[in-house]
Parts: sequence; structure tokens; C-alpha cells
Amino acid sequence: CGIVGYIGRRDDVAPLLLEGLQRLEYRGYDSAGIAIHGKSGSKSTGLKSVKAKGRVRDLEAKVPARFKGSVGIAHTRWATHGAPNDENAHPHLDADSKVAVVHNGIFDNASDLRARLTADGVVFLSETDTEVLAHLIGRSEADTLEGKVREAVGQIEGTYGVAVLHADFPDRIVVARNGSPVVLGIGEKEMFVASDVAALVSHTRQVVTLDDGEMATLKADDFRTYTTEGSRTSATPTTVEYEAESWDMGGHDTYMHKEIFEQAEAVDRVLRGRIDDRFSTVHLGGLNLDAREARGVRRIKILGCGTSYHAGQIGAQLIEELARIPADAEPASEFRYRNPVVDPDTLYIAVSQSGETYDVLAAVQELKRKGARVLGVVNVVGSAIAREADGGLYVHAGPEVCVVSTKCFTNTVVAFGLLALHLGRTRDLSVADGKRIIAGLRKLPEQIADILSREDEIEKLAEEFTEARSMLFIGRVRGYPVAREASLKLKEVSYIHAEAYPASELKHGPLALIEPAMPTVAIVPDDDLLEKNRAALEEIKAREGKILAVAHREQEKADHTIVVPKNEDELDPILMGIPLQLLAYHTALKLGRDIDKPRNLAKSVTVE
Ligand code: G6P
Repeated sequence: CGIVGYIGRRDDVAPLLLEGLQRLEYRGYDSAGIAIHGKSGSKSTGLKSVKAKGRVRDLEAKVPARFKGSVGIAHTRWATHGAPNDENAHPHLDADSKVAVVHNGIFDNASDLRARLTADGVVFLSETDTEVLAHLIGRSEADTLEGKVREAVGQIEGTYGVAVLHADFPDRIVVARNGSPVVLGIGEKEMFVASDVAALVSHTRQVVTLDDGEMATLKADDFRTYTTEGSRTSATPTTVEYEAESWDMGGHDTYMHKEIFEQAEAVDRVLRGRIDDRFSTVHLGGLNLDAREARGVRRIKILGCGTSYHAGQIGAQLIEELARIPADAEPASEFRYRNPVVDPDTLYIAVSQSGETYDVLAAVQELKRKGARVLGVVNVVGSAIAREADGGLYVHAGPEVCVVSTKCFTNTVVAFGLLALHLGRTRDLSVADGKRIIAGLRKLPEQIADILSREDEIEKLAEEFTEARSMLFIGRVRGYPVAREASLKLKEVSYIHAEAYPASELKHGPLALIEPAMPTVAIVPDDDLLEKNRAALEEIKAREGKILAVAHREQEKADHTIVVPKNEDELDPILMGIPLQLLAYHTALKLGRDIDKPRNLAKSVTVE
């Protein structure tokens, strides 16, 4: 979900908040709402709110012209408790309509609190967990808004980023954070709050990120931060790394298209300043792992969700190949709940674009509680996972707005290439192999540009897949995670069912599905498994299956081959998925899908 708030000198806060919500829509888009301290000239007209099911534009259409004020909060929702409808949209108000609350996260004890409040005569208007907070604040007897919010959040178990307005305290917004991001934007005689800098950067790049257990009071020309117990905390604003334009569409029709085409530049950025030609290695200053410690690592466990999990799978292979450390990746959500054996000689790596996926963050916290060492491979600088980890490396993909991840996936895999090289060179990887991998990494941006220059060919191919109800993606060893990610891309954005399988397992089941109407996409690198992969193509062809191969040379058995440039064997997986991002994109476009905001999904899942 996305939160945005404003307090300051402007007197027409609604358009500004709606624009902020548009910027946050990728965090959730099934309903939206806004609340302001209304004002007519200099006269207060009380707390006013409007909510709507659907997109931010549906809300915009409902906001009346005379909805004027200088203080407001707004929200765009990704439903967890309760269906997406007007009632469940935020802000939620208390019984006297004096308090308005917007919230990201989940209150775990909401049903107990709801039962208690209901027994006290409170009538709930929504099915959400959030509404309990509005009532708790409304019923608090504390003198200040800060005191009321403190008292209320003290009764709550769970995660939250919240922003609160109160009719009796029109000069301030009070916010609190525990597990869901809250960022303050510091302007000139105006203050902003948001769950994500995306909503702030067009107004100010000076930001303060709250920590868990921190609260803040925003006034038009002042802000202060303090703990939920009330003691002041220091908050020095930092400057957001990227210009506001990095969040714009930059001439493309969708963010997905823009982000696919930013990949050459993004990969260049993740490599920049890190390569050390003299010792054929890389410098990763933020790892906090010296050579001795690196040599002591006996095993590596990589944790992530969705696309980041797939990037971690390729990462694990790179680490095994280059550093010869046993490594594997697992969905963070699974890992957390199976009471894993936490081993002191294992290095744990949490992977996340946003740095705030709750399942990943919770896995990191659990690991740290058990004394493990955890590194982060994260895109968003200063995000929760980056801060929670003992060290790590940023992937520098730049802002990624499309819900479906593309450039961040590629950059994450390249970052793993750097990490694997670094670990390898502290162990048994030779100077010659170090040089070879460095040369391969340096070639990537140009090779990516080469693949992307063939968009027309891929767009034409996409025509043939729009009719498919289901597709199979196969690959072997290095190609398997590529197939998994490509299949995820296709299903997320086009809604065509897709399944990835190791090519070697085909004959143990999925071959039964092969028929002309069930196309297969095969990853066929020119490495030592080429002949084995060709055998799989034979098996499919013999059953009249249609095949699209991604390979380093034409594949006779395939109906089409997308030929991609060859790199070092270990680095080939980085390139082989890129044409399939374009394939997913164009297939979805032809099917008229909502490319940047696929149904039911959200970019950052800050709940379990
Ligand atoms: C959501 C998004 C996916 C993303 C996953 C992990 O499910 O829709 O695109 O891969 O979260 O996100 P993260 O920010 O941790 O990489």
C-alpha cells in the first residue's frame, strides 16, 4: 500500500496528494482515499474525506472542487483484510469523525481489539484492521495527538506505517513506523510524508527515513522525531540519490518498456568503480567481510521472494561456480516458517529490490536473532533490509516502477557475479579466471544493447503466443532459473499460464502436456550441456510441440531461435532472459493487459 501526506503553505492540497498517490500506485491499486483539514478562506471546515474503489483516477473523479486545505493524508491500497471496496479504503475515521488514519502493514491483534471495542459500543464501518487504530486514537484521553497515537499504537501488535490527522490538532500530522516504511520529505515551509520517496522527489530530495519504533510530528515549518516511548531521536536529512525524472516514463508508453531498455545503462552502473584490474577482483566496500572471514564461509544461503528469489538462484550458481562454496536459494517465506537450522559457518544473503518485502525482512530478523551473519543484495538505498543486514551490496538499478521487475533482476544477477568473483578471488579462483570473468562482465552492457535492438523481431514472434493458454519454459542447470524467471514474467504480465521445468525432467511428466497448442520456450546455451538440451528439443518436436529457442546459434529443431550474443559460460544466464522480457511485454501488450499494474499484484509486499 502507499501513503502520502502534506502539511504546509499551499492551500490546495488535494491535487498534490493525488499526484503523490499516482506515483505510489504500483504499491497497490484496488482502492484509494484522501482526508484533509478542510478550509474555506482562513476558516476551518473540519475533517473531510473521500474514498473510492479502483484506481487513483477513480478517486480523483470523486473529489469535489471545494475540497480545499493545507493539511492532508492519502492512501492507495492493496487489499489484505477485507475486499477492495469504498468502505474498506483508507483513510479510516473514528466514531466522531475527528480522527483520520492511513495505514500500511497488518495489525495481528486486530480481531481482539475489534471485539473489545465492539463490546464497548463502537460500531465498525469497515472490515479492515486499520479502523481499530482510528477508534483507539479517538477514545484516548491523552492531551496531545502524539500522546493519543502513542497510547493507541502501544496496544497494537503487528506492522505499521501510519499517518494520522485529528480535527482538534489541525497544525500537525503524526506518523509512526513499525515494519512498514515511512519517509519524511523536508521542504521549505512545507513537510511531506510518504511510504516511498517516489511520492516526494518532485517536491524535495531531502528525506528522513524513520526507524522501527520511531514516530514523528510534522508541522508546516518544523518536524521532530522521537521513539514510541517519547524520547527525542536525531534525524539528519539525506539527499535522494536519483533525480526526480528517474521516476518518469521518459518517452516510453509503459514503465516496463522503459525499464527493459535501461538495462545496459543500469548494468554499467552496478559495475562502475568496483572492478580492480590489478588483482583481477572487485571491491565491495559495504560487505563488511574481510578476506579471512570470506575464507571461513562454508555455505551460502540466499533468500528472496518472486523475481529476487530467481535472481538468487542464478546467484547461487555463480557462487558455486566461481567460489566453489556450496550455495542455494530458497523463498524467504518458506525458510522463515520451517524453523531452519541456523549454522554459524553459513553466510546468509537477503535479496530484495525494494528492501522492504516483509517475508524477507522477517527472515533477516529471525536469522539475526539466532546469531547469523546476513548480507543484503538490495536496490533501494537505506531500505529496511539494507539497514537490518550486517553488510551487503547495492545493485544500483535505479528506481523501478513497473510491478514486474526487469532491470533490477538483471542488475541483481550482475551484483551476484561481482560477489561470486570477489569470494572466488579470496579462495581458489585463479588470476586468469578472474580476468576472464571481468572481461565478460565488461561486455554485458553492449551485448544487452544488441539484444534490445532486435525488439521488432521479438514483437513479431509475440503474435504467435497470444493464443496460447499455457506455455512451458525449460532450461538445464544454468538455464533453469532463466526459464523460471521468464515463465514468471510471462504469467505476471500476460496472464497466460506458464510453467518452468528443468529440461532434464521433461520426460518424467510434463512431456504428457506437449501438443501443437502448448508451446515451449527453451534456453539452449552453447555450453557443455548443449547436446543434452538438443535432445530435449527432439523429444518435444517428436510430439509436434512448437518450440522457441533462446540460444547462441540457430537451433534446427526449434520453430524460431532468438540468437543472443555469447559471453563466458558462467555469465550467459544474465543475457538469455532479456529477449524473454520483451516477449512477455509484447505478448501482454497485444492482449491489451495493464502492463505496469497487473491484476491482483503489488510491487512491494510489506505484509505476510
Ligand atoms: C512482489 C512483486 C515482485 C517481486 C517480489 C519481491 O511480489 O510483485 O515483482 O519480485 O515482490 O520483491 P522485492 O522488492 O523483495 O524484490
